[in-house]
Amino acid sequence: MIVEKIYTDNAYRNFNYLIACPESGEALAIDPLEAQLCLDTAKDKGWEITQVLNTHEHGDHTGGNSAVIAATGAKLLAHGGAKDKIPGIDVGLAAGDVVKIGSSVELEVLDTPGHTMSHVCLLSHTDTPALICGDTLFNAGAGNCHGGGHPEQLHHTFAEQLSKLADRTLVYPGHDYIANNLRFTLDREPDNERARTLLDKVKDQDPHNGVVTTLGLEKEVNTFFRLNSPTVIARLRQAFPDMADEPAVNKVIVARSGGRRESSYYSASQKRSMAMPLIPTMRREKIRGEYLQANTTIWCFEPSEAVC
Ligand SMILES: [Fe+2]
Repeated sequence: MIVEKIYTDNAYRNFNYLIACPESGEALAIDPLEAQLCLDTAKDKGWEITQVLNTHEHGDHTGGNSAVIAATGAKLLAHGGAKDKIPGIDVGLAAGDVVKIGSSVELEVLDTPGHTMSHVCLLSHTDTPALICGDTLFNAGAGNCHGGGHPEQLHHTFAEQLSKLADRTLVYPGHDYIANNLRFTLDREPDNERARTLLDKVKDQDPHNGVVTTLGLEKEVNTFFRLNSPTVIARLRQAFPDMADEPAVNKVIVARSGGRRESSYYSASQKRSMAMPLIPTMRREKIRGEYLQANTTIWCFEPSEAVC
């Protein structure tokens, strides 16, 4: 299996992917927003794109479908629940399905709701497993839920699926947010030296040749795998003083999601930095209400301009 990671250099910092069978030269294009770039890359490699797969229905992942399909005649695959959201789906996917590419590549479909409710990740069972994770899991972060998702579902996906995958699994996310996300980690967990070291390494990296993390590393630097961290809970308690000493993890994750429900919660200078107070004092009462309801909050930990 060959994984070609294509950085698009657009405002949303998307990664597109080509997954190719080295024996047959057939390729699967995943979220090929920059259609021509994907087509050119396949041509350069001598690959034939026979399938397109969308991890979820957001426009910055589906926007290149029609151009790639028009040029190649590829079949379109996406979550079965996205059939009314993504035009032209040929194959609706469900958990446990296997996507075959050429004669040698098989990818297991994981149903991973949270960022949206029709989101799939793909897992290879190769010697070194690979996880193509769209906007569910980012390097050192997670996708927000304000575009049709739900934080409790996202927590469930992390707790019941992603955290149980092998630590050596390579992580291929839908966007390059690693530096900002590591700054977020360090704001919530200032004593995380692994995150500090990694930030020094990647803050000026070229996204075209950026680091590929593993799930083992993510568990060290990604707050969403670290909700039992005493430091994370202590930082959270600064915003929610009435929280229990050992809060249920899903309460931690949902409470934290209140931090950026609306951009108006933050000043312009706060928006420019991920090292912001968890929740500004003047809005605390309102957000605490959302915490207690635990059903209306969202996550939003990407750069403030991002919509994915
Ligand atoms: Fe998205």
